[in-house]
Amino acid sequence: MHAEDLLRRYLEQRRDQGENELVLDTLSVEDVMRLIGAARTSSKPDAPARAEDWRDTLRSSEADVRPPVSAESASAPVPTPSSTAIARDGIVVGSEGTELFGGELSQCHTLDDVSALIAACRKCDLYRTAKHPVPGEGSATARLVCVGEAPGASEDETGRPFVGQAGQLLTKILEAIKLSRDEVFIVNVLKHRPPGNRNPLPVEVDACRPYLIRQLEIIRPTVIVAFGTFAAQTLLDTKLSIGKLRGAIHRYHGIPVVVTYHPAALLRNPAWKRPTWEDVQLARRILDGVRK
Ligand code: URA
Repeated sequence: MHAEDLLRRYLEQRRDQGENELVLDTLSVEDVMRLIGAARTSSKPDAPARAEDWRDTLRSSEADVRPPVSAESASAPVPTPSSTAIARDGIVVGSEGTELFGGELSQCHTLDDVSALIAACRKCDLYRTAKHPVPGEGSATARLVCVGEAPGASEDETGRPFVGQAGQLLTKILEAIKLSRDEVFIVNVLKHRPPGNRNPLPVEVDACRPYLIRQLEIIRPTVIVAFGTFAAQTLLDTKLSIGKLRGAIHRYHGIPVVVTYHPAALLRNPAWKRPTWEDVQLARRILDGVRK
């Protein structure tokens, strides 16, 4: 079969399953249909949306096909960044190059040192119910650090961050901006699982925060991506929503911070995949030196 027909058939299937957003390269199904000159065929808008569409079929397309601006995004308080938009400056936490804290963590010079302290941590009660600490994993020289909320059941079982369903989506999101899990560092604000995946308590965040800070201090990445409300609000010391925080380059002790939706939220709400794609493209541009 001709490649164009294959692509059209693929797109029709996606549309019939209720997926109108491809997210990658800001192209929607309709955009690509127009691009390949495919005739519009019947769609079933009520079909259930599927979550696992982080495919890079169209990643190489350079076409300048922009989706129409919806009324919702037009009235949104924060401009949605496109691949060429200039992101505004955001919240600044701390100043560049300052030593963040002292104490025993200042004696930790490697990520393994920090992990050892985390494994022995008794500063809150989470260690009592957790099976394993989840200190984080990846490259000590990572240029991009992903910050999530807290380990879930799969992470608690394995001692590794983001290995469940949301983690698999995170891996695909990273691949979409040409990064493997090994190249980045993946970490959570909390290092032990809250029982039953309940929301982290302020006292737990306060106990755990120094570990994250020290990890960031050791890695000194080029960009941090905060996935989800909790990571964003903790890092940026704010109560603002993701909708208000995304689209800007915030600063955490001089390190640019990009805020986006949590992969678990994307599994529940596929409409957030497009903005998430735009946000991680912003992180990619920072890595590429296009934005600092
Ligand atoms: N959600 C998170 O925030 N972190 C994980 O490691 C897994 C799920």
